[in-house]
Amino acid sequence: MSELARLRLGVNIDHVATVRNARGGIYPDPLRAARLAEEAGADGITAHLREDRRHISDADIEGLAASLTVPLNFEMAATDEMQAIALRHRPHAVCLVPEKREERTTEGGLEVAREENRLAHFIAPLREAGCRVSIFIAADRRQIEAAHRIGAEVIELHTGAYCDAHAEGRFEERDAELERLREMSTFAASLGLEVHAGHGLTYDTVQPIAAFPEVRELNIGHFLVGEAIFLGLGPAIAEMRRLMDAARA
Ligand code: PXP
Repeated sequence: MSELARLRLGVNIDHVATVRNARGGIYPDPLRAARLAEEAGADGITAHLREDRRHISDADIEGLAASLTVPLNFEMAATDEMQAIALRHRPHAVCLVPEKREERTTEGGLEVAREENRLAHFIAPLREAGCRVSIFIAADRRQIEAAHRIGAEVIELHTGAYCDAHAEGRFEERDAELERLREMSTFAASLGLEVHAGHGLTYDTVQPIAAFPEVRELNIGHFLVGEAIFLGLGPAIAEMRRLMDAARA
């Protein structure tokens, strides 16, 4: 068997900003976390500028865009405001995510199939500006086909349902979710899409996903920022990297 391509780890630093914003002020600094993550072997930094600015701020994005040495994956809703910000900074990648003000986190994937025309027009200038466009979607054939038709280069599969089922001990459902993610990562790759995955991943859930040969990148945030309380951010990331590499070997 040929060797699997190395799996990239994108470290999402949103929740460093969540802790900062709990008090206002400047500590802890998401930029410092990004630099530490780079040193610890992150292949990219992911940050979601939400419409309500509940964690990452405009100034954070400005700082990241200006100072990162690894690629920035800018997560955003498909709104005119966010498009203008992305076009100003031209990050390596733009990941389109659904956003509802009342949700605690990004609960589902983007409904691409229902909004195909609008999204095709929306991503065109981003692609022209040189950003890789990724769409965060459920492991659903219709959504994958629609993401392909609108011209996205990358899809990111939402692993939240798989992780929740694991955490809540619903193991049959977890295994069914895993199977769906496996089948849909193969299907997406067969269309020529690059496949990423993320949301809710932990040390306990990362390895089955990391073992999918078609998956090229994982984006992980909340668990790593939590684990950093106990281990420090560098060691928390290094352990995730070790588990990913072991699953890939
Ligand atoms: N990928 C996408 C598209 C996301 O929206 C998020 C959460 O912001 C993540 C990955 C990371 O999820 P988590 O913070 O649960 O690891």
